[in-house]
Amino acid sequence: MQDEYIVKGNIIFTKELGKYEIFENGYIVIDGKFVKSVYKELPKKFSKLKILDYGHALIIPGFIDIHSHAPQFPNLGLGLDKELMPWLDSYTFPEEKKYSDIDYAKKVYSAFVKSLWKYGTTRSCVFATIHKNSTKLLMDLFAEAGLGAYVGKVNMNRNAPEYLLESAEESIHNTKELLDEYGKKYELVKPIITPRFVPTCSFELLKSLGELSKKYNVPVQSHLSENLSEISFVKKLHPKLKNYASVYNEAGLLGDLPTIMAHCIWLEEEEIELMVKKEAFIAHCPNSNNNLSSGIAPIRKLMKKGLNIGLGTDISGGHSVSMANVIASCAQVSKLKWLESNKSDKPLTTAELLYLATKGGGKFFGKVGSFEEGYEFDALIIDDSSLSIFKPLSVEERLEKFIYTGDDRNIKEIYVAGKKIEEPKQY
Ligand code: GUN
Ligand code: FE
Repeated sequence: MQDEYIVKGNIIFTKELGKYEIFENGYIVIDGKFVKSVYKELPKKFSKLKILDYGHALIIPGFIDIHSHAPQFPNLGLGLDKELMPWLDSYTFPEEKKYSDIDYAKKVYSAFVKSLWKYGTTRSCVFATIHKNSTKLLMDLFAEAGLGAYVGKVNMNRNAPEYLLESAEESIHNTKELLDEYGKKYELVKPIITPRFVPTCSFELLKSLGELSKKYNVPVQSHLSENLSEISFVKKLHPKLKNYASVYNEAGLLGDLPTIMAHCIWLEEEEIELMVKKEAFIAHCPNSNNNLSSGIAPIRKLMKKGLNIGLGTDISGGHSVSMANVIASCAQVSKLKWLESNKSDKPLTTAELLYLATKGGGKFFGKVGSFEEGYEFDALIIDDSSLSIFKPLSVEERLEKFIYTGDDRNIKEIYVAGKKIEEPKQY
């Protein structure tokens, strides 16, 4: 009974796509790491439990960011004048080079983790760099902070500057070392197999990574179909394969274990069918797609096909760590897509987007992203009193106002797996 407690406030979350569950002045009963139940009126049997009363505050599930690059944090807002491939060459690779220096890594990675906490991102899927030691450090920093994460040592062995390349053997050897050391080290922080994308990995390397993911039962993250020049390059590199997605599939890297593919803007119909069949996840990253002129992902269409979709900041293609900011961008680009589709693909609603930013991406972590029974209790306590000053608003309107006009100052407390998380240390 000791681990049971109650939080009280204005609770809003999504069980189903597009539909809010609202418990005004409601109660969430938590048992250890998990939600036991949510109530409008507290049943008598719980009357002896400790209640943390957050008064007028909103209580929502923690945000889940299923695609970002921790080493690109210093580039936030910089170098967004190019498309993907020249952007990688001129801004991204030179920054990622620096993570052979563990002191630099500690400075940036601790600031990155603290920033996630500040903006209410309770779980993330993150790319590190090729460097195994700084990747391990990033995992340690997540664990020290108490935030959940899948962290990947990036694999690349061609088509990038020499300073960011390993041989296929080295790349596999170092990845194995990480899986051995960190596979079971932490409960909330896990390794993930991370080929950067097809252009920077030989097929031999991709195949070995596919084998590794099966042998160690570890999920996979990569990029797919983000930019038209990237896609042409992949076709040139793999003329015999049908399309971009099939390169990953042939290498055993698409959905045999849970897989996230970032972007998926320009998928062919056959690729969509393959992704559906493999139950792969798409990380939709609209800020990045706008900044790098990549295009608008057809999310309504992909949703109708039944794909697993979550949202990503894609730091630093994306310029904001805030998932609320990503939600607002998603809504905006979905309206442009609606026009582009002659008004057939309806814009995404805030309720649909809250789902994608919580339960949609949370599915990759298990039962995460909702306040339904048995879900891990990840929550944000939001004081929006500074935002709603002119007229009374419903709980639903307050959530929308927070998403569009609020920021980190409104996020007062963060819970991950039933535990309140204090401000992480910045080194
Ligand atoms: N494709 C390969 N690497 C990257 C990266 O770092 N960012 C983005 N947005 N796309 C990529
Ligand atoms: Fe990315």
